Order: sequence, then C-alpha cells, then structure tokens
Amino acid sequence: MLDLQRQYRQIRNEVLAAIERVCSSQKYILGAGVEGFERELSEYCGSKESVGCASGTDALWLALLAAGVQPGDQVLTTPFSFFASASAIVRAEARPVFADIDPQTFNLDPEHAELFLNSGRRDRLRALLPVHLYGQSADMDRFQELAKSHHLALIEDAAQAIGARWRGSRAGSMGACAAFSFYPTKNLSAYGDAGAVTTNDAGMAAHLQRLRNHGSPSRYVHEEFGANSRLDAIQAAILRVKLKYIEEWNNARRLRAERYDQLFTEAGLLARNAQPENSAPIRTPYTSPSAHHVFHQYVVRAFRRDELREFLAARQIGTEVYYPIPLHMQPCFVYLGYREGDFPEAERAAREVLALPMFPELTEQEQKWVVKSIADFYC
Ligand SMILES: Cc1ncc(COP(=O)(O)O)c(C=O)c1O
Repeated sequence: MLDLQRQYRQIRNEVLAAIERVCSSQKYILGAGVEGFERELSEYCGSKESVGCASGTDALWLALLAAGVQPGDQVLTTPFSFFASASAIVRAEARPVFADIDPQTFNLDPEHAELFLNSGRRDRLRALLPVHLYGQSADMDRFQELAKSHHLALIEDAAQAIGARWRGSRAGSMGACAAFSFYPTKNLSAYGDAGAVTTNDAGMAAHLQRLRNHGSPSRYVHEEFGANSRLDAIQAAILRVKLKYIEEWNNARRLRAERYDQLFTEAGLLARNAQPENSAPIRTPYTSPSAHHVFHQYVVRAFRRDELREFLAARQIGTEVYYPIPLHMQPCFVYLGYREGDFPEAERAAREVLALPMFPELTEQEQKWVVKSIADFYC
C-alpha cells in the first residue's frame, strides 16, 4: 500500500544531518527551526502565516477556536472523512452537522450544503468545514460564496491535500484558515505526529500561537485555556528537508494516477454506468477540471469491493477502505440524531471505495501487477 523506506533511502543523509543540527543546538521545542518551517510552509501554500502544532487533529481544533467557533455553535462538514474532521468540532464544544457528498469527487457537495443553509435545521451555524478528500480540493468557489453570503467562517481541512489547487489557488490559502496533517503516511510527512494551521490573518496567527501554548502570550501569563500543542524542532527540521521535494513527489503521484487510469482502460475494466457491475467493475477517480489533484490516495469504486480486497490481500497487495463507516453512523455520534439513509451518497461511497497502492516511488511493474490482479479477480 505504501513503502516509506524507499523515500527514506533517498533523503536519509539530509534528514539525519538536519536531526543532528537540532540535537547539537539542544533546542527542541518551537524556536528558529520551527519558525523557518512555518515561513516556508506559508510560502509554499500561498498563505501569509502558518502556525505549527502537534497533529492534524489539533490543527483542526485550533483552527475552529481561532475562527471563533463557540460552545453550542454548529459547524457544517462532510459525513465522509476521517473521524477528526468531526471530532475536532465536538472538542471545540460545538455540534457537527452534515450534508451529503458529491458522488464524483467524494467531497462535500455545495448544493447539499446550501440546502442545509436554507433549512430549518440550521441553528447557530458558525462555520463551514469542507475536507479536500484524497488530495482533491473541494469546490472552493462555491464554498467561498456560501460562507460570504451566510456570514460563516470557512475552514479548510487540508490534511490530505498539501500542494492541491483549486483554479490555481493552493489548499491552505482559500479559507479563513486551514488545517494540515503531517502524519507519517501523508504526502508531506513527519517522523511522528505533526500538524499546522495556515491563515492570511496575522491576528488569527497570533491567537493560534497562544492557543497552541496554553493560551499564553508570554511566560506564565495565561489569557485563555489553550493546550500543549507545540511543534517540536526535530519534526520541523525533517519537514523542512521534505518540503523541498513535495512538488516533485506530488507530480510523481499524479503520473502514477494517470498510469492507473490508462491501465484500467486498457484492461477493459472501466464502468460506464453510475453503478459498477461484473463486466465493468471499476470506476477510476474523477478529477474536477478546476482541481489540481495531488492523489494522497488513488481511490476507485469497485464492484464486490470486500471480496476484491481479500483477493488482493492474498496476493500481498495492500489496499485500504477510507472510510468504511460514514461519520453520521459512528456510534459516538448517535446523539446527533442522524439515521441510515440520511446521506445516501456518503453511505454508498463507504460500501464501494477502495484505495489502491499509491506513493511517489511505486513502480510501473507494481502498478501493472495491481491492475492485472484486479482483472484476474473479475474474469
Ligand atoms: C481529513 C483528515 N483530517 C484530519 C486528520 C487528522 O490528522 P492527524 O492524524 O495528524 O491528527 C487526518 C489524518 O489522518 C485526515 O485525513
């Protein structure tokens, strides 16, 4: 599914030298190295500011607080994402509300979001939280319009989407603020947990800096309750090494996605109808013409998905289901009052999606073997 050793072999010397510099300095928390990474991340994303923190999950929570989400507010997000997209809202003492996804992109559908905005279920709605799922930006033109006309904060969950663009604008530059994850499997990854929030608002960045450090503007003065969510200098040093390669690595992912598309077409496996079937069992990912997709994951819809997955596992081919249970069906969200059938596209996606091996060093031979194995399963 993912072989991190291959990347490590390429950058090992640079990474070890960067770690050694931090150890020699004996400055491990925040400091000049973290500030350097924050500056370079902002330059890359096209945001004015960025604030490093301990994880993508913390980045979402910090972003919600800094964007002004208050206890008892609602925040609208997608039911088809990693758990943290919704749990961060609960952690900010607000209530997650969901709207269904676009079946083509798997991202929050602005039409469904608008229906919610104009419905009676809206009550103290404070923010929109679209997720750029699998590395493809949500429709940020429509979300910017909705945020503006309904006076809502727009927060990007860009955890899977560093380098992704929507009509030329980079993920992390299109909302009031954006959350990134540098979890080890992400396109830009640390050697442990790490995250960041980007924003164009200097005041918000200053607030984020306080929040990640116990709400403290200066030593032993606490203006509010934040947390210990600082980015440490070793992770920042590793991320600075890797950030130099992110464009190259994202382009390698895009090429591999194109190659999968081509191999599936050649194998005659492509579904022409909305519903995959045995003779045409695979729907390859759709990329919006406005999006520059960075393929954090290459996710197909597959007929008899679970059986296919077992068949591939027997051939040592790793796959993953992101995500098997939509968020509104999670046991811990029963209190929100949603039922099965409320978001049919998210529920269908949960039954059909399959992420195939995808990373910049994946070879053509390996991709051919994956597609041949899928063809073998269906014939
Ligand atoms: C969409 C999304 N949001 C948030 C997160 C949380 O990031 P982290 O694992 O760094 O806490 C992740 C990562 O797993 C994610 O994929």
